[in-house]
Amino acid sequence: MKKLIKNGTIVTASDTYTAEILIEDGRISQIGTNLSAQGAEIIDANGCLVIPGGIDPHTHLDMPFGGTVTKDDFETGTKAAAFGGTTTVIDFCLTTKGEPLKNAIQTWHAKSKEKAVIDYGFHLMIAEINENVLIELPYVINEEGITSFKVFMAYKNVFQADDDTLFRTLVSAKEHGALVMVHAENGDVIDYLTKKAIADGNKDPIYHALTRPPELEGEATGRAATLTGLANSQLYVVHVSCADAVEKIAEARSKGFNVWGETCPQYLVLDQSYLERPNFEGAKYVWSPPLREKWNQEVLWNALKSGQLQTLGSDQCSFDFKGQKDLGKDDFTKIPNGGPIIEDRLSILFSEGVKKGRISLNQFVDLTSTRAAKLFGLYPKKGTIAVGADADIVIFDPQVERVISAETHHMAVDYNAFEGMKVTGEPVSVLSRGDFVVRDKQFVGKPGSGQYLKRAKYNVNAPVNQNETLPI
Ligand code: URP
Ligand code: ZN
Ligand code: ZN
Ligand code: ZN
Repeated sequence: MKKLIKNGTIVTASDTYTAEILIEDGRISQIGTNLSAQGAEIIDANGCLVIPGGIDPHTHLDMPFGGTVTKDDFETGTKAAAFGGTTTVIDFCLTTKGEPLKNAIQTWHAKSKEKAVIDYGFHLMIAEINENVLIELPYVINEEGITSFKVFMAYKNVFQADDDTLFRTLVSAKEHGALVMVHAENGDVIDYLTKKAIADGNKDPIYHALTRPPELEGEATGRAATLTGLANSQLYVVHVSCADAVEKIAEARSKGFNVWGETCPQYLVLDQSYLERPNFEGAKYVWSPPLREKWNQEVLWNALKSGQLQTLGSDQCSFDFKGQKDLGKDDFTKIPNGGPIIEDRLSILFSEGVKKGRISLNQFVDLTSTRAAKLFGLYPKKGTIAVGADADIVIFDPQVERVISAETHHMAVDYNAFEGMKVTGEPVSVLSRGDFVVRDKQFVGKPGSGQYLKRAKYNVNAPVNQNETLPI
C-alpha cells in the first residue's frame, strides 16, 4: 500500500532538506511538501533523519572458511543488517579451481533465496583464469548480473591467486565491464612469517597480527594498483586497514588510475592491542588484514574525509567464540578469521564519524550507501532518495544513545567485537522496496522477501548509470 513519510530530514550524498516522501508500488513516487496523503499510511519521522538504505558491499554469509562455516547465514545476517539500517548486501560467492563458475553461483543462490530478508547481490571470486573461465564470464556478467570479481592475494593454498591470475582478471574485467576487487596482502611472505612464528613457539593470537605486518598490505595494494594501471582497468581494494595501503591507493589515484578503497568499522575504532587480551579473548579480534597500531585510525578517518577511501564495508564474517574461534586455542593459524559487524556499521560510522565531526552527514550517506551503489551497478535504483528509486529507506534517530552488546544484537554469534561501546544514533524503522522490515525497532520482515539483484556493468565515466533510466 501507499506510504507517506512526513516530518523527517532527508539526507542524500549531496543534500539535506525537509520534505515528504510518497511511496507507491515499492518505489518513491513523489518527494515534496503538502503531498496528498489520500489512501496512504502516514509514517511520522519527526526528529529523525530519512536516509537511503545502507548498501554493504562486503559480506560473507554462510561461508565455509578456516575449517568451519560462518555462524550468520543469509537469514540471521540480513536480519541483523536490516536492524542496522542496511537494505542491500553484496556477498562473496566462492569458487573452486576446476569447477564451473555456474555451479558456484547456483550454490550461492541456494544459500540465499529462501532466507534473505533484504535485497542482495553477489561478487564472484576468481581463483584462476583459463579457457573455461573466459567462456563463462559473459554469462556471469550478462545473465547473472555479477559485475565484480574478487581476487585474493593472500591465504596461500586456500584462496590465494597469483599475479598472472590477477592481471588476466584485470584485463578481462576491462573488456567486459566489471570491477576487480582485491584482498591485498602478500600471502607468500605471510606464509613464511607464519611458519616461522609457529616453529619458534609463538602461537598466541597476537602473532596473527605480527606475522601480517602493514608493509605486506602496502606492498600488495601497490602491486595490484600498478597492474591495474598497466591493464588500464579498474580496482577496488577491500578492507583497507593501514597507512601503507592508503598511501598506495592515493598514489595510484594521483596518477589517474581507477582505484577505489574500502575500509571497515573495526579498523576505525579497534587496534592491534586487542589481540593481546588474556584468556584467548584476543581471538575475537582476529581479522585479515589484522587490526593495526592505533595511529593508523587517524589516517583512515582522514582518507574517508578526503575521498581517498570511498566506502565502508562490514566484512561480516562471523564465528562463535566458543566452538569456532577456539579451534585456534593452541595455534593462532587455526583461528577462523573475521568478525560480526554487519549490524553496527552505520551506527559506528555515524557516532564516531558524524557526531565527532570527522565526516559530514552527506559523506556518511555516500560512504554507507551511495558510492557502493554507483561502483557496483545499482545506482540509481539503490543508494539514493529520488523519485523512481526503490523505496529502501531508513528512519534514523540521530540522538538515541545505546551500548553495543551481544546481549542485544541480532547476529547469531555469541560475542560482539564492539561490546560495551557507546554509540549515538540508531535506525528506528527500515523499509525495503516500500515494505517495513524493521518497524519501531521490531523485526516485521520475512525470510525470502529479499530479491536477487542483477547489477549493471562497471562504467567509471558514467557511474550514474546512463543506460538505466528510472522506471517512472
Ligand atoms: O578476516 C577476514 N577478513 N575474514 C573474511 C575473509 C576476508 O578476507 O575478507
Ligand atoms: Zn507494500
Ligand atoms: Zn579479505
Ligand atoms: Zn571479506
